[in-house]
Amino acid sequence: MSDIETWDREAETFDEAADHGLADPECRAAWRALLLEHLPSAPARVADLGCGTGTLALLLAEEGYAVEGVDFSPEMVRRAHDKAGHVATFVEGDAAEPPLAVASYDVVLSRHVLWAMPSPAAALERWIALLAPAGRLLLVEGNWSTGAGLSAEQTVALVRGTGRGAELRRLPEPVYWGRAIDDDRYLVTST
Ligand SMILES: C[S@@+](CC[C@H](N)C(=O)[O-])C[C@H]1O[C@@H](n2cnc3c(N)ncnc32)[C@H](O)[C@@H]1O
Repeated sequence: MSDIETWDREAETFDEAADHGLADPECRAAWRALLLEHLPSAPARVADLGCGTGTLALLLAEEGYAVEGVDFSPEMVRRAHDKAGHVATFVEGDAAEPPLAVASYDVVLSRHVLWAMPSPAAALERWIALLAPAGRLLLVEGNWSTGAGLSAEQTVALVRGTGRGAELRRLPEPVYWGRAIDDDRYLVTST
């Protein structure tokens, strides 16, 4: 099965995870507060790379951001349209080479996607190229108990390898995940 088919299949139940669907008001409020703490004030242009079912895009669009989501899974994009197409735009495409205008975004946001790039370093260079001057990068990643993912140190090193600064905030609080976690999940920001 191709990666795209795998994610198409994942899409059906994707929002069942607390952090994916943000159905629980406390969990949603925690992600809202975390993201708003690190974003410039709205309105601002946000590229959401590997946007999945569009949950974060919806959250940010409701806060006044202009969000454009990219995902290579047609089923994810279909669900993102259904969920948030009234307030955000979504396009099918490869996040490794986002089909978006360079030097145009105030924010590049990506949650749980960098780890899946064939070359995270090459993808990161392209993501940073999307940023307007003074644009910010927000990466939510993890080194999950499944064995998948990137360590916080790897992600920080990847960002610093582009010549940019990187700030690490670990996210151990259960409120973000709907349960206690025993692996490493974190946010890396670069301004
Ligand atoms: C773990 S999910 C995260 C979804 C969303 N960012 C979120 O946090 O709710 C990973 C997403 O990345 C997408 N994805 C993985 N590799 C991709 C690629 N090369 N190009 C575009 N999307 C990709 C998958 O289809 C899936 O929607």
